[in-house]
Amino acid sequence: MKTFKEFSGKMAFITGGSSGIGLACAELLAARGADVAVFARGREQLDKALAKIELHRVTQIQRFLAVGLDVSRREQVETVLNKAVADLGAPDILINSAGVSFPQRFEDIPYAKFDEIVHINLHGTWNTISILLPHMKKHGGYIVNVSSVAGYIGVYGLSAYSASKFAVMGFSEALRSELKRVNISVSVLCPPDVDTPMLERSNKIKPEETKAISSSASLMKPIDVARDVVTGMGRGQFLILPGSGTRYTYIMKRLFPGLVQSIMDGQIKKAAQR
Ligand SMILES: NC(=O)c1ccc[n+]([C@@H]2O[C@H](COP(=O)([O-])OP(=O)(O)OC[C@H]3O[C@@H](n4cnc5c(N)ncnc54)[C@H](OP(=O)(O)O)[C@@H]3O)[C@@H](O)[C@H]2O)c1
Repeated sequence: MKTFKEFSGKMAFITGGSSGIGLACAELLAARGADVAVFARGREQLDKALAKIELHRVTQIQRFLAVGLDVSRREQVETVLNKAVADLGAPDILINSAGVSFPQRFEDIPYAKFDEIVHINLHGTWNTISILLPHMKKHGGYIVNVSSVAGYIGVYGLSAYSASKFAVMGFSEALRSELKRVNISVSVLCPPDVDTPMLERSNKIKPEETKAISSSASLMKPIDVARDVVTGMGRGQFLILPGSGTRYTYIMKRLFPGLVQSIMDGQIKKAAQR
């Protein structure tokens, strides 16, 4: 299995690299000497991110780039990523952090929202990997897909999001065993709540029951999650579970799924009574 401990001279492509976890990974990899290209939709945010990444430069020869891309649009992904490879070379590292959430009860999620979430979180991950794989296969590499704690526990208020993130887990697991033979390692990252603009937006609209469940877990900083990503890549760890609480809930869910459900049911009941 390919592991990465040394990042100097490595090229990292990071979707969702203009904000939150993706940006923290971009900054950390830049500080470790990597070349970094970040991809997202919003130009203004991309420019701000590029300026932040630049602050972590350690050598004059490092290349940083911020490119407009909607990962859910297959044709655009093909054009933009093939051009990025022509300009920069094939990535050694691909981090799929682009993602969206819409925490509402199932009945309050319009079909169009569900469609958007799945197209960005799942199809987006599929799109970037399928376009970049032929290039990455030539010299091997590392892919990190971003799922969530909601990718192994179905959480109240996160039906669309959990559906997309469970799918990213299954996709990543299958991919891990297929890509081993071409010297590409695959990890899946399952963060708990992380202090990012996504969480800030989510907190404004999430049902009280969802808040009650997530308030029982600790809040992480994006940079600490990025450190766990880099450590996980160094160990070739398939499942990257940032924070001890996340590792505990993962084990509990695997061993005692009924208990985890009844704890959550209790939290939901209390929140509903309030
Ligand atoms: N924060 C948390 O509590 C948490 C917990 C578990 C998992 N996660 C996952 O971690 C990942 C990063 O989330 P975050 O919290 O860092 O969120 P964030 O701060 O909102 O960043 C999301 C990034 O994804 C980009 N993005 C969204 N839709 C895109 C699209 N269609 N095409 C390309 N880029 C797109 C955004 O830029 P544009 O909008 O400009 O495109 C932004 O750069 C997501 O996959 C999320 O599901 C987050």
